[in-house]
Parts: sequence; structure tokens; C-alpha cells
Amino acid sequence: MDKGTPKAIRLQDYRPPAHRIDRVDLHVDLGEDVTTVRAVLAIRRNPDRADAGTEALTLDGQRLVLRSVAVDGRTLDAADYTLTPDHLILTDTPDAFTLETVVEIKPQENTALEGLYKSSGNFCTQCEAEGFRKITYFLDRPDVMAVYSTTITGDKARYPVLLSNGNLADSGDLADGRHWARWEDPFPKPCYLFALVAGTLVHGEERFRTASGRDVTLRIYVEPGNEDKIGHAMRSLVKSMRWDEEVYGLEYDLDIFNIVAVGDFNMGAMENKSLNVFNTKYILAKPETATDLDFQNIEAVVAHEYFHNWTGNRVTCRDWFQLSLKEGLTVFRDQEFSADMNSRAVKRIADVQGLRTVQFQEDAGAMAHPVRPDSYVEINNFYTPTVYNKGAEVIRMIHTLLGAENYRKGIDLYFARHDGQAVTCDDFVAAMADASGVDLSQFQLWYRQAGTPELAVTGRHDPATATYRLTIRQTVPPTPGQPTKQPMHIPVVVGLLGPDGADLPLRLEGEAAAAGTSRILHVTAESQTFTFQDVAARPVPSLLRGFSAPVKLTSDLSDADLTFLMAHDSDAFNRWEAGQILGGRILLGLVADQQAGRALVLPDSYVDAVAAVLADADRDPAFAAQALVLPTEAYLGTQMAVIDPDAIHTVREFARKTLATALRADWLAAHRRNVTPGAFSVDAAAIGKRALKNLCLAYLMAAEDAEALGLCLGQYHGATGMTDVIAALQFLSNSPAAEREEAIADFYNRWKAEPLVVDKWFSVQAMSHRADALARVRALLDHPAFEIRNPNKVYALIGGFANGNPVRFHAAGGEGYRFLADQVLRLDPMNPQVASRLMGPFSRLRRYDAARQALMKAELERIVGTTGLSSDVYEIASKSLE
Ligand code: ARG
Ligand code: ZN
Repeated sequence: MDKGTPKAIRLQDYRPPAHRIDRVDLHVDLGEDVTTVRAVLAIRRNPDRADAGTEALTLDGQRLVLRSVAVDGRTLDAADYTLTPDHLILTDTPDAFTLETVVEIKPQENTALEGLYKSSGNFCTQCEAEGFRKITYFLDRPDVMAVYSTTITGDKARYPVLLSNGNLADSGDLADGRHWARWEDPFPKPCYLFALVAGTLVHGEERFRTASGRDVTLRIYVEPGNEDKIGHAMRSLVKSMRWDEEVYGLEYDLDIFNIVAVGDFNMGAMENKSLNVFNTKYILAKPETATDLDFQNIEAVVAHEYFHNWTGNRVTCRDWFQLSLKEGLTVFRDQEFSADMNSRAVKRIADVQGLRTVQFQEDAGAMAHPVRPDSYVEINNFYTPTVYNKGAEVIRMIHTLLGAENYRKGIDLYFARHDGQAVTCDDFVAAMADASGVDLSQFQLWYRQAGTPELAVTGRHDPATATYRLTIRQTVPPTPGQPTKQPMHIPVVVGLLGPDGADLPLRLEGEAAAAGTSRILHVTAESQTFTFQDVAARPVPSLLRGFSAPVKLTSDLSDADLTFLMAHDSDAFNRWEAGQILGGRILLGLVADQQAGRALVLPDSYVDAVAAVLADADRDPAFAAQALVLPTEAYLGTQMAVIDPDAIHTVREFARKTLATALRADWLAAHRRNVTPGAFSVDAAAIGKRALKNLCLAYLMAAEDAEALGLCLGQYHGATGMTDVIAALQFLSNSPAAEREEAIADFYNRWKAEPLVVDKWFSVQAMSHRADALARVRALLDHPAFEIRNPNKVYALIGGFANGNPVRFHAAGGEGYRFLADQVLRLDPMNPQVASRLMGPFSRLRRYDAARQALMKAELERIVGTTGLSSDVYEIASKSLE
């Protein structure tokens, strides 16, 4: 085992550190062969740990070559300290002292992309969660907060730009063609927020005046040649800064804010104090190379990292179990920001779709864990949809329970209490409860209990008493390590629609008068009944409006009720949701037919419901584009006891083709109406029209006729924006037409100079549902543009196949599984985080039939049996086998 036998780290074992580090002076001397790091640390015993007595100072450090250690200026002998592969241990140190260490590292050999590494010849860092220990010896834990200065020395021609956190304090030239810069960050921070960048970079610049009138310089650094793709990210940054002032009352706190985009990055981006480092995928955009979705993702991720300056940096996590303290809160903030900048309903739909496929799948698998996990082997495995997206839903529910005004009071109290501290999720909830007077004690189970709660709702109208009774039963399914669960506090927002489709005023039993047309029902017990008064005629309930809680809800609504909601619900999210429930019901019924060998027939009533949405589509094209998509294969899987990827795929394709043929003229007409001539624009209206147009084209292509193919080829060759070009290529890649191969070859030739566009080319092929997909993916591994060391390429090709192509990945012969295991084992020695992130599908093996389970288990056993495995891959593989 690379990092020793992996051992679980448990929340209940948390102890404050025995020592504190108040000040760090780092001197980083960058070299081509060896980089030297001299660290001068002001260390003292932690007064809060009187029980620690004379506990040894145990510093974290990995892959460091130690050159010298000195305490208060006195160089130590090797006999004066203990050195292990992961630690430097000093005993008998004074109560307060200065420690100076000198280590050597080789960033150019760092393929794990954690710590200090090189990307396209430039130096950059990624320290979260535990990368700082690969740069120098340190107490690498977020509750140790220090003030930093960073002096960088490097070759001036190779690395003209030298950046770190805070303000540039001084810089100068040296005799031998080298130069240096010293950065000082006045805000105490945990080491995971440290950053250093050195290289040949160009930048775009903007000035921002804060609400209180301070001027901030904003810069985005990119590799030369990309200066034409910075504008959208910069505009997004300015909007985020303004939004945080207006909605949260939070201002930026330094004179400079830098972003650097690098091509090799394990995740999306990183919120290092005043020096965010981004994956190029979330910065670089122009309409020719980036899709509308890319533009929207950039806006969201730029905002996310900026928002971390307060939720994450000014107030950080006490320990990594509290990761959702900053991530759940910051995702909720970026979701609301995007909702304010674009269409709120469409944003909510997209977020819920993501949650319901990816997070619900995680909750149903071997890696299910609470929003605040109790234990982990490798913390990098816990940057998950549960911590991020379910964590955001937990914050959203607090927002719902408190209301906007009290929520804001809670936020203000949180910062008043904890600015400059490293705190827990409990501290956050306490601030919310104290500021609002709302009792959140039962609600806190959302942090502790894993699994997706299930709600079953039945409604009964009694004409005699003019009452309508909603009975809601909740269950929380068992998850690994949590066999039994307590009932949760679930806010279920409901409305009632009268026979004319209008919202009824709501009066619950015991209330004197009706108030409002949407109500929060507090579901807190296993079974509860809520009685509405003055309901003369049978209403249709609109349940869980806006997806007010991350649960699976089933109800006794009829198909006719759902069709009625699709047409009339005042809650746009629930209009979409009604269509999804109806579509899901019908498709799952067809899956059963397919499994039983019965003929497939799509009910006319469903075709009519789709036709009605399409007829109304021009009113809100972006919404219609979402409402007209059939439930995804992944989502349908989450609704089945045993996932049958073949039947799901067959049925969904059958339904698409049937709708395509039955409504051919309507798709064609809607397509024509939404082709926008003239100048290309990425405003919300244009994005909506493109989404609808491409959805129509997708249906038309499902019919596989010559006219559709002509339209698609015309769009592929004629379009100027990447959204339209890649959509056309995607439809072609699934098509039997001979033109498919020409287009695929043409696309590469057109775009081979743009790495992010080539990534799209890899994913389109990896996700094609044609039978030869795996063979193609294998061949593409040897394509000159594929780089196994570049995470974006791996996620696009290997990840695209494993996560985005269920029918081919789960091929009954097991060849998809074998392929993935081979790639995991190949990647693990280079980059354990990337290897581990590919393993999601294996962690859900129990959701499949016995034959597939056996095939996946065999691959996992092969992985677990491999020597030298990383703790990252070991944890997922071993837990998946349990
Ligand atoms: N804090 C970063 C973000 O949410 C994620 C970085 C995580 N990186 C990692 N290697 N675990 O924006
Ligand atoms: Zn984050």
C-alpha cells in the first residue's frame, strides 16, 4: 500500500491541534530539476490543549527530501528528530519557537496534480484537501490558521509571472537571469488555501469598486493565445462580486483578486485566498469554441469560487468532516446567483435533474454517506454530490424554513460570531436557529443520516365537509453503517389547484382564515395528515413545489391529474415535474412490457400531452426544451428495483422515435421557428431558442429520415456557435448515416488546436449509443490528441463512456467493466484522484442483476488485489465489495 494500510479517520476522534502555527514565511526557489522550499514557522503550544502536556510536534510531509531543520536558529542533528514517510516529529520543543525547514521537491514529476506541479511548463498548486504537505512540513489541517508571506524566486524568461496569495509586497531582479517576488496575505488562513503560480501567462484586467468605495484590481491569467476567451469569466466575476454585496452584504476584502486558468487540473477550480486557480474548462469561452452550457457553467463556477472568499475562507472548516459547511453553502449561493442572472425555473430544473441522477445514485450505492460523513479513508473521495449538492439542498431547506429575511439574519450572525475561525456545521445551524428562533434540532438529522428519504402522499377530498386531507408517510432507507433511521424534518411546500386550474387560498385545520396559495407542511413524523378547509370541489395538489426537499416522492395522482398540472400549475418547476412523473410512469411501464416480451405501445394520451407542451413552446423556449426531454436513462434506473440498462435504453429510444414520427410536422415547425438568423448572442433568450431548436432536431434525427439528416448536416456545416455544431455532431454520432464518419473526421481537423473542443469530440464519441462505442473509445486512447495525464481528457473519454453511456458500459458480456478497471489500474500510479473519480459506476453494482454484479465484483477484486494501490482507489473498491 502506497500510503501504508489505509485506516479510517473518524469524526469522533477529533482533537484540537497540540500546536498552533501563527506565521509562515515561505521561500520557494523554483528550478527545472529541483525546487527548494525553505519554511520559517512561528509555532507555539495550543493553550486550548492543556491536556496535551509536552506532546510531540508531528508535522505532515510527503515526498519531501529534507535538507535541514533548525529550532530558534539552531540546526538539528538527525538524532534530534524522527522522520517517517509521512511525518517529521520533534520532541522537547520550547513552548513557543521558530522552526526552519528546508526541503527539496520535484514538481515536474508530480503527475498527481496535488501540491506544487507543472502544467504546460507553468508552476501551479492545488493544496485542498491535503496537498500542502507535499510542499513543506506543516500541520496540514484546516483548524491551523496562519498569516503567510511567500517569496518566489525563478528564471525570469521562463516564469515572468510570479503569483501567490495576498498583496505583492516587493519584487526584484537577480544577477543570473532570475527574479523574485514577495507576496503577503494579511488574513490568517488554513494551508489548503495557499497558492503559488509561476509561468508565462497573459492577463485580462478589470477594476471593481466595492460598495464601500474601495478599488479592487481583477485579473484573469491564461496561457498566451487564449486572451480572446477571458471576457465572459471576467463579466461573471464582476456580477458575482456585486451580487454578494447586494444579497449577502459581503464585500471583497483585498486590493487584488487573481484567477489563473490551467489546463491540467483534477477538479473544477479552487478558491485559494485572492488567487483562485481554475481548470481552463471553467474560464475559457467564446461562442465559436464554447457551448451555451459552458458559458453557464463558467458563470456558476467563477461565482462559486468567488463566494468562497467568505463562505470557506473568512470562515473555514474545523476539520474535513465539515466540508459541506463551506461547499453546501457555497453551492446554494452559486445556484441562487445563477437563478437571479438567468431563468430561475430552468436553473432549478437543471439542478434538480443533476441531484436526482447523480446524488440519488450515490445515496443508493456503497459510497452513500451523510452530508457530514462520520469517517473516511481518503478525504479526496468525499468531494461528492452528497457533500456539495445534497449539502446545498440542506441549506436551501433552512432558507425555506426560516424565510429570506431570517435566513439573512442567520448569515449575519454566523459571520459576527465566526469570522476568522474554523468551525463546524453545528455552529452554522446554531447561528441560523439563534437568529430566527426556529427550532432546527430535528432538522439536523439531515447532516447525520445518509440516504434519500421517501415520501408517499395520498389525498382524499370530502365534499360533505369541504375538506381535503393529505396524508404523508416518510421512510428513510438503510445505508451502509446506518441500518435504521429516525424520521426527518422535511419541508414539503404544497398548493392546491381548483377545477379551473387556479391556486386555491389555503386554510389548514385550526386556522381562522385562509392565507396564501403555497404552504410549507412540516413533515416530522413517520405518518401525518394535513387537513385543508373550505375545499368545495376535488382539487389537484401540487406537491413539493420547487423541489422543496431532496426526497423521492410518490403520490396517488392520476395521469389526468399530472396532465392537468403540466398545463396549469403556477409553480413552473412543478409543471415540468408533472411531465417528468408522467413520462417516467409511462416509460417504466414500457420497461416492464419489454422485459415481459410484450409489444411496446406509447399511449396516445401521452403523445397528446407532449404535443400540447410543444404547441406552447414558444412562450418560454428554455423551459419547453427541458419539459420536452424524456426522463434520462440514469433517472429511470434510479426508479427501478433492479436496473435493466438494455430495456431502459430500448424503451427510451422507442418512445423518442414514436414521438418523432407522430409529431414530425410539429418538431419541424418548431425547429424552423427557433432558428435564429443574424448575429450570434449568448443572452438568455437566444440560449433558450437554441436549446429548443436542438431538442427538435434531436427528435427529428430519431426518426432517421433523409430530411432530418439534411437539416442536421446543414447545421453542422453552417453553424458558427459551438452549441449548434456539437449538437449536430452528437446527433450524427448516433446516426446510421454514412455522413457520420466524415463529420467526426472534419470536426477534429477543424478544432485540433483547441484542447477543450477536442475534449467534446472525445465525449461525443464515448457517449454514442452505437454498438461500436467501446471499440471506438479503445482506439481513441491511442489518438495523438489523447493524453492520459490530462484529467479533462480522461473525464471526457473514459468518464464519458463509463458515466454517459449506460447501455454500452453495462454490456452484458462485461467488456465495459473490464475496460474501466484496466484504465483505473493504469491511472492509479499517476493520479489517484482521477483514477478514483472514475469508479462511481462500480460503487453501484448492487443495483444491477446478479450476472452484472458478479462481473463488476470480479473487476473490483482484481483492483483490490493489486499491490501499491492508492488509498483513494482502495477505499472505493473495498467499500463497493462490502
Ligand atoms: N474547494 C474546491 C471547490 O469546491 C474543490 C477542490 C477540491 N479538490 C480536491 N482535490 N479534493 O471549489
Ligand atoms: Zn467549493
